[in-house]
Amino acid sequence: MSSCDLLIQNVTIVDGSGAAPFQGAVAVENGRIVSYGDTTGFTVHEVVDGEGKVLSPGFIDTHTHDDLYALASPQMLPKLSQGVTTVIVGNCGISAAPVTLSGTLPDPMNLLGNPEEFRFKSFAEYADAINDARTTVNVAALVGHTALRNNHLDRLDRTANAREIDAMRSQLAAALDAGALGLSTGLAYLSAYDASTEEVMRLAEPLFEAGGIYTTHMRTEGHAILDAMEEAFRIGRHANSPVLISHLKCAGLDTWGRSSEVVASLDKERERSDVSCDCYPYSAGSSTLDLRQVDPRVRIQITWSEPHPEVAGNDLQEIADLWGLPLLEAAQRLRPAGAIYHSISEDDMKVFLAHPATMIGSDGLPRDPRPHPRLWGTFPRVLGRYCREQALFPLTTAVHKMTGLPATRFRLANRGLIREGYRADLVLFDPDTVADRATFEDPTQPSQGILKVWVHGLLSFSEGQATEARAGRFIRRGLP
Ligand code: ZN
Ligand code: CU
Repeated sequence: MSSCDLLIQNVTIVDGSGAAPFQGAVAVENGRIVSYGDTTGFTVHEVVDGEGKVLSPGFIDTHTHDDLYALASPQMLPKLSQGVTTVIVGNCGISAAPVTLSGTLPDPMNLLGNPEEFRFKSFAEYADAINDARTTVNVAALVGHTALRNNHLDRLDRTANAREIDAMRSQLAAALDAGALGLSTGLAYLSAYDASTEEVMRLAEPLFEAGGIYTTHMRTEGHAILDAMEEAFRIGRHANSPVLISHLKCAGLDTWGRSSEVVASLDKERERSDVSCDCYPYSAGSSTLDLRQVDPRVRIQITWSEPHPEVAGNDLQEIADLWGLPLLEAAQRLRPAGAIYHSISEDDMKVFLAHPATMIGSDGLPRDPRPHPRLWGTFPRVLGRYCREQALFPLTTAVHKMTGLPATRFRLANRGLIREGYRADLVLFDPDTVADRATFEDPTQPSQGILKVWVHGLLSFSEGQATEARAGRFIRRGLP
């Protein structure tokens, strides 16, 4: 007779692969799943009755900016409370490592934290710091192109020369050796906009040998989105590496309704290359305040402003009216600032969310004093609003987009599925009540219906609260 530490019984198992649910139990020993389905014959230390609710692999948040937040707030409650057990950091070209700051922190690296928090000259030092911090959830990381540019270029409004590209490449290669998942870019931001396609192509070359991924916040998500996609595909083909398009969307009113064109381009490339994307389930985006996105037809909420903190929480239009200034001038005065742009059509967003190549990524901004609600609500919102209420896809598909699919795409070995020998990162939730409660007005409300979360077999969240357990680890890229 075998024994196990923990038996979660009387559950509906949604195993992360997309396969049909089944009734049974999951047995855990030493942080790993040792048996599932029919677990009779086990001597058990602790039994949890799942009362017929759904047990699935813990969710993987594929797109986060939790790089430094994970160190400052290792409880990671915005994520843990959603059933997330792994976050992927280093997206959109910005990462905490490897970084050497000489002058000021370039936009949008300021989204991650304050200058003094950027203290990891190598990727390996960052990985050690995550393990030392004892985070509740696991952390895996990409290396940001803009972070590398910051390290090696005297100014960011130009493309890198051959010597600088070599220097960036050797830093990327060292990070890949230390377990980085791949390279991210944020070509839309002014800190990387002047980088040529060739700069990124040459920089991305070490990805192939390492088995890393290329992820990109594309050069534009507006009018020229198809060209931007073509650029991403070209970089992926040159590097002979998988491509992931970050937070896929048609941004701005002039691009609304073009999701079918975008999907056609994606599907065409998928016939010959390995391409996927991530998406958050909201019709508004958020980042630093970008003057190029100021449009009188779009509602823009100001979430923070360095020179004018007193107006945070108001709409840009209200602030402009108050100051008696045109929109653009008011925006100029507010910067550096953060903003939420209500500039996405929900219909387009649903097309992207439902696409089989799409994974779920919150893109939450944990350092924002008035964050976009995606930080606290993304995963329950997909399960509640889009899966249960709108039947955009079955529950097995929703869970697959949050677990098995990203684990494969990012090479997170032995995670994302309920299988023997896999890590016991698990979430128990009620499919009938799971829902987001964070709103644009009240953005830090925890979700409902997430009942229990285990990380490496330790109960880390229960009854709406974090437990004492902090079992997260830094996760290195797994073997091909
Ligand atoms: Zn981005
Ligand atoms: Cu992002």
